[in-house]
Amino acid sequence: MEISNRIQGLTGGGSDGWDVFYKARRMIGAGVSVTELTQGEHDIRTDQSILDAMYRSASGGNTGYATVPGTNSMRDAVAARLTARTGVHTTRDNVLVTPGGQSALFASHHAVCDEGDVALYCDPYYATYPGTLRGVGAIPRAVPCLPENAFQPTFSDIAAKSAGAKSLLVNTPNNPTGVVYSRETVEGIARACREYDMWCISDEVYDTQVWDGTHISPRTLDGMAERTLVVGSMSKSHAMTGSRIGWIVGPEDVVENLFNLATHTTYGVPGYIQDAAVFALGEGLALEEKVAEPFRRRRAIGQNILAEQNVVGLVPSEGAMYMMLDVRSTGLSGEDFADKLLDAHHIAVMPGESFGASAAGHVRVAMTVEDSAFEASLKTLVGFAKEIQP
Ligand SMILES: Cc1ncc(COP(=O)(O)O)c(C=O)c1O
Repeated sequence: MEISNRIQGLTGGGSDGWDVFYKARRMIGAGVSVTELTQGEHDIRTDQSILDAMYRSASGGNTGYATVPGTNSMRDAVAARLTARTGVHTTRDNVLVTPGGQSALFASHHAVCDEGDVALYCDPYYATYPGTLRGVGAIPRAVPCLPENAFQPTFSDIAAKSAGAKSLLVNTPNNPTGVVYSRETVEGIARACREYDMWCISDEVYDTQVWDGTHISPRTLDGMAERTLVVGSMSKSHAMTGSRIGWIVGPEDVVENLFNLATHTTYGVPGYIQDAAVFALGEGLALEEKVAEPFRRRRAIGQNILAEQNVVGLVPSEGAMYMMLDVRSTGLSGEDFADKLLDAHHIAVMPGESFGASAAGHVRVAMTVEDSAFEASLKTLVGFAKEIQP
């Protein structure tokens, strides 16, 4: 029996730069102590107050089907958050609640791409992007974002790839680079979307993790609200990765159609999770800052270590829970560097190549272990780079 091409195509095929990741997993499985700096998962757990709200809701009987587009209170809470942060008037009719950001990425592209449409994404990219685009029947086309531009996509980078494209997927603050798009970059994105008549899918799941600069949503720019779908999530902002809760914010007619899609796919998000999310959003910035604080601290630790040497370069570390390091001076690819570092020092980092060709010769370090272990690992990494430098 044949399995569909669509599902087999999700992973692409060929070498994808994830060998080091799986090798680290095998070492851990075999009992080796490995410092894991690969995954975007907090080292703290969901705040007890959020869990209490979840328990209150579930034990109060809220365990049945929830309304498919999201509860009114959750949709209102998301709308209020977006209105307050961006100044763009947003109501519950602009909001679909989704089981996390990943499902929002999938649903957004489903909403705007037909079979065979070209969908753009920026390279370096979050690992699931090309598969997500293929999964909805679109043809992914990468927009290379160059290290010499700090991985920020310029208008001409985008325009060079835009002919015939239906959508452009952008992500700021960015995973894997840790870069926050400048106003000029976001204006270039908006201009390209308007001039080439593309939808903008704006992945903003790290919008509360900004260390330097300001998060600017493309939806706030002229003529963009009607062509932008914002993808949000509480995974990163509230350390709720396991709760699977996120959203899409966009024009009302798109949200109405997404409601229909959700009816045929997820059938909504559990009501007790939504109640917990409403509670968490109601706590405002204080809770989000508490969740972001360890990364802010470790970023400062990392910056200090890297400032004392000139072998390993640091891509401007402006947001998100990662640091992108340039290891090209060692003469190794990111993949070889990560592999040798794992063998020699049992420290696991992600090769840049696993996020696309533009990040070759880089490694991504997740700031997700406690401060002293993070500091020691980064010092070891720098020492290792010095040792192997030709
Ligand atoms: C850029 C980006 N978008 C989306 C997601 C998906 O997040 P979730 O599905 O947990 O909300 C992630 C997760 O790491 C991410 O890094």
